[in-house]
Amino acid sequence: MSLKQLFNHLVKKNKTNKEKINWVTNPPKKDFIDFMTNKNSVTKTIGDEWEGHAYYDKAENWLYKFWEEDTVFYQRFQELDCTHIVEIACGHGRHVQFYLEKAKSITLLDINQNNIEYCKNRFSSESKISYYVTNGNSLTGIETNSQTTVFTYDAMVHFEMLDVIEYLKEANRVLIKGGKILFHHSNAGYLPTVYYTSKPHWRNFMSADIFAHLASRFGFQVISQDIFSWGEGEDLVENVDCLSLCIKVKNIDP
Ligand SMILES: C[S@@+](CC[C@H](N)C(=O)[O-])C[C@H]1O[C@@H](n2cnc3c(N)ncnc32)[C@H](O)[C@@H]1O
Repeated sequence: MSLKQLFNHLVKKNKTNKEKINWVTNPPKKDFIDFMTNKNSVTKTIGDEWEGHAYYDKAENWLYKFWEEDTVFYQRFQELDCTHIVEIACGHGRHVQFYLEKAKSITLLDINQNNIEYCKNRFSSESKISYYVTNGNSLTGIETNSQTTVFTYDAMVHFEMLDVIEYLKEANRVLIKGGKILFHHSNAGYLPTVYYTSKPHWRNFMSADIFAHLASRFGFQVISQDIFSWGEGEDLVENVDCLSLCIKVKNIDP
């Protein structure tokens, strides 16, 4: 997609939302700068976007995108040891059914308390699941060097880079050596000063290369990075996503 096509796409997507369209302008306005320089407000606002969203019910019908056998999500997932597994940003827990049997312990985290309550109800008969509301970038509550896998699907694409960095650090802390992360993240490494909701499919600023660099700084070796498109028909945006599979090779200093 050329920059001109991208701009047209953004304008089309946001034509009903003047405030967000202002955030596409360059240079950014003062209120936008104030917002973006307050770290907690960005993380919280991204989390708030998903509170009670209509997405969750609809998304139950889109599981094939992740779990049909010819998808990269399914194939890379087979490379994980699910014995002690953490899912970041679990939403309503639609992915759990695909690893429940394999796991001895499961930890579900989400920034929204409502989602955690939903999962507690949904899986009330499962004693091997623990639940935490996260502040948006930590795995607090999970023991150091205790987990075999940390993964996240359909969520980190929206997170801002500063939170991805913290999650990488935290994943290094909670994983055993040889444990793996499987993170579905953005590959929209353009428009670096634009707020994420004004970018295609709400993909935040990140790229496969930046992610690989960060992962290597936090004690991981990249096993694979699959870059792929998202959306259908005229909403298709090429190469906007990436699925990174990495192995923990070293403990980092806290
Ligand atoms: C598009 S939903 C995806 C939910 C789930 N992963 C799925 O595939 O069904 C995005 C999820 O990310 C959660 N979220 C947003 N920001 C977060 C953050 N910084 N840390 C953890 N969860 C976050 C939201 O509450 C929401 O559940």
